[in-house]
Amino acid sequence: MSRIVYVNGQYLPEGEAKVSVFDRGFLMADAVYEVTSVLGGKLVDFDGHTARLRRSLSELDMPSPATDEELLAIHRELVARNDLSDGMIYLQVTRGAPADRDFVYPDASVPPTLVLFTQSKPGLADSPLARTGMTVVSIPDQRWARRDIKTVQLLYPSMGKMMAKAQGADDAWMIEDGVITEGTSNNAYIVKGDTIVTRDLGPQILSGITRAAVLRFAREAQMKVEERPFTLDEALAADEAFITSATTFVMPVVRIDGRDIGRGKPGAIAARLREIYIEESRKSAI
Ligand code: PDD
Repeated sequence: MSRIVYVNGQYLPEGEAKVSVFDRGFLMADAVYEVTSVLGGKLVDFDGHTARLRRSLSELDMPSPATDEELLAIHRELVARNDLSDGMIYLQVTRGAPADRDFVYPDASVPPTLVLFTQSKPGLADSPLARTGMTVVSIPDQRWARRDIKTVQLLYPSMGKMMAKAQGADDAWMIEDGVITEGTSNNAYIVKGDTIVTRDLGPQILSGITRAAVLRFAREAQMKVEERPFTLDEALAADEAFITSATTFVMPVVRIDGRDIGRGKPGAIAARLREIYIEESRKSAI
């Protein structure tokens, strides 16, 4: 069965969906995106993703393609049309396709482009990697300076994943000014004793929707949380490490730059947070 995708008001088989070669998303990475996970046919943290999308659009003075209600309806329609149980929905908004390539933003007569598609991941919440834990390498953070805006400029994160792969690792954590910013497509955490440490929010990192939920659950479970920068040395000496994102939920990290973290096995705090996050997300999904 061909996947049904959404492009500018139409639901089409993926092979028939088209975007202009003049689209600024294609020519200039002038576009923002969101990834919302789907569990049991329901959307996890939809309101959080829409709120962050609104912020990304407003930071870039990009017109909004649809209301929150319309976006919710499109997400649900795609879940239904593709019979999606577990997986994710990718949404991208671009500044549209003006008549010619031009650095200057087009005027308001050019409508934004809105594209959404689904990716099926059966058993998303039951990833084998969660049982063994993942490995990361450290690399310099060479992205632009507004990582709080979720743009589609993903070339460096993509290069980062290739650097990790070349070293036999699953992903990379990025370092800037001597401290870890985040993973290539996730937020980074360490645990020392009973304290969870993760980079504080700012332009240097993306304000993860999963991060917000996980920190809230951690605090509700009386765990200690410190939001501050941490160094690679601190990470190497930590008892546990993990990442969070919409597609991995909470995923333990057991090795950094070839060195075991703690006993080189998924830690108890990461495992507990993963359990709570998945349980609560299933309950609150819409
Ligand atoms: N990535 N940091 C970066 C750089 C990210 O790209 C992501 C998400 C996150 C985690 O954000 P959230 O918890 O809202 O998913 C942090 C998505 C999943 C992606 O690009 O596929």
